[in-house]
Amino acid sequence: MYRTHTCGELRLSHVSQKVTLAGWVQRVRKLGGMTFIDLRDRYGITQLAVDEKNAEEVRAEVEKLGREFVVKVEGKVVERASKNAKIPTGEVEINIEKLTILNASDTPPFTIEDESDGGEELRAKYRYLDLRRNPVKNALMLRHRVAQETRRFLDAQDFLEIETPFLIKSTPEGARDFVVPSRVHHGEFYALPQSPQTFKQLLMVAGYDRYFQIVRCFRDEDLRADRQPEFTQIDCEMAFVERQDILDTFGGLMKHLFKNVLDVTFDNVPFMTYADAMRDYGCDKPDIRFGMKIKELNQLVQGKNFAVFDSAAYIGGICAEGCADYTRKQLDELTEWVKRPQIGAKGLVYIRLTAEGVKSSVDKFYTPEELQKIAAEFGAKQGDLILILAGAKKQTLNALCELRLEMGNRLGLRKRGEFAPLWVIDFPLLEWDDETQRFYAMHHPFTSPQPEDMAKFMSGTKEELEAVRANAYDFVMNGVELGGGSIRIFDAKIQQQMFKVLGFSAEDAESRFGFLTNAFKFGAPPHGGIAFGFDRLCAMFGGSDSIRDYIAFPKNNAGRDVMIDSPSQIDDTQLKELSIEIAKEK
Ligand code: AMO
Repeated sequence: MYRTHTCGELRLSHVSQKVTLAGWVQRVRKLGGMTFIDLRDRYGITQLAVDEKNAEEVRAEVEKLGREFVVKVEGKVVERASKNAKIPTGEVEINIEKLTILNASDTPPFTIEDESDGGEELRAKYRYLDLRRNPVKNALMLRHRVAQETRRFLDAQDFLEIETPFLIKSTPEGARDFVVPSRVHHGEFYALPQSPQTFKQLLMVAGYDRYFQIVRCFRDEDLRADRQPEFTQIDCEMAFVERQDILDTFGGLMKHLFKNVLDVTFDNVPFMTYADAMRDYGCDKPDIRFGMKIKELNQLVQGKNFAVFDSAAYIGGICAEGCADYTRKQLDELTEWVKRPQIGAKGLVYIRLTAEGVKSSVDKFYTPEELQKIAAEFGAKQGDLILILAGAKKQTLNALCELRLEMGNRLGLRKRGEFAPLWVIDFPLLEWDDETQRFYAMHHPFTSPQPEDMAKFMSGTKEELEAVRANAYDFVMNGVELGGGSIRIFDAKIQQQMFKVLGFSAEDAESRFGFLTNAFKFGAPPHGGIAFGFDRLCAMFGGSDSIRDYIAFPKNNAGRDVMIDSPSQIDDTQLKELSIEIAKEK
């Protein structure tokens, strides 16, 4: 028998019991004639002790130990002379009677402690060692809990967990596909699913009216802290539902998870339209833990001979309470911050409401009364600082959104442990792309227009189509898009119109999505669904911005797995079998 107990289990109540433990040597400490060993497994750490009274063979084995050796130890539980209140097993130790080295270990390349001395790259290369560290282990345990609670909730609501295939043909979620060449079918490719979207809709046609799956999705897109090329969704679909049914059910799932994982409760989730979110927060995933809403200032500031504002399509600002005492240096630094390529603003105009009056970087163009009017627009008071950006509308709103979040951070308004959920609804159905001169589906091409906008959708002009709202919704928490979904089109004619609007020829639509439109001819029920980003949800629960910490074997920010060295080349025979020729570099 390798063990009678785990390394996290023993307490004072076990004193004088004979036990066997197995685990990794975290540390060996010598204190006078005593040797202490911290033995670690997944469950915790238990101290082992040896002194001159222990048998010669035991002491000889202990002498051989190094960090991360795997050992089995037998001995008696004794009360510690000096207790360690920091760990649950800290009141006891094992007096070693027999120690067996099960396996030696090379010296690990970094310390396996809560705070490791290893850099990110090194820890990624030896991810299996990094996974031994408490913070990483706790993240994966949290992930497990979220998955189990998800299943518990959805199972109780009659959802069936059904797997869908990975080797499929392209699903359009807006990213590029990862493709897999077929050996048997010369020159043909599978695509890995960007989501199980079409399959879950087919399951609705098949009558499985409540489906879910905790499922891997693959998207070849630019990586960020909250994006991985393979990530996991809690993917769900329901039949015979309207939007409100979906929001109730999955608002319920979120409540269940926050309650059972974090012990956080929240009331019913509020709604905000996409239009309001863009106007007031400059983005479609506002952090509503704090106000600091954006105000458009075009009317107030244009026509006063300030060329920057006069030539801008949009001028808007925010009011940072209590920041009027920002120094020149701080304002310069903030200006540099908004000018970074990620933010993309050309410059920053400020108005400070000081005790000595209104002071701004545009005093030359605006009278104190005019500046006061701008301040009044924000309801600003003495001590506040107004920050204004100008330029193209979309970019400027986006920059203001970032600036608002940054000021929120600086002012401590984005409090950890505070959660402000939100449903964002009424997204535009379509987005026009000037470059390719065509519409793209903002969510995906199976999303239904809002019923009120259906007539416009079926026969509208370009302008009318741009104004059509989708029956789509996002679940947003603290500025993070945790999930998104929609009520689907279930009428083949409407679906055909969608493909037409998106510029697919009839043949194109047939070859790509014929399987779905044909299925809709055989009694498709009204249906809709949602998918939550499972990794993002775990990161939110764990209080981290990076989803990588919640994935056992993540890719780095260049999309590489540096541990297994992937992607990598394949050998010539394999290439030949797949009829693939690699273009020689010029
Ligand atoms: P969507 O594309 O909005 O919808 O994705 C749903 C959720 O998945 C998460 N997510 C990601 N997480 C990590 N890395 C990524 N690369 C990544 N991309 C997306 C986000 C997002 O909200 N089939 C539809 C859902 C539906 O209509 O039911 C879909 O996939 O949290």
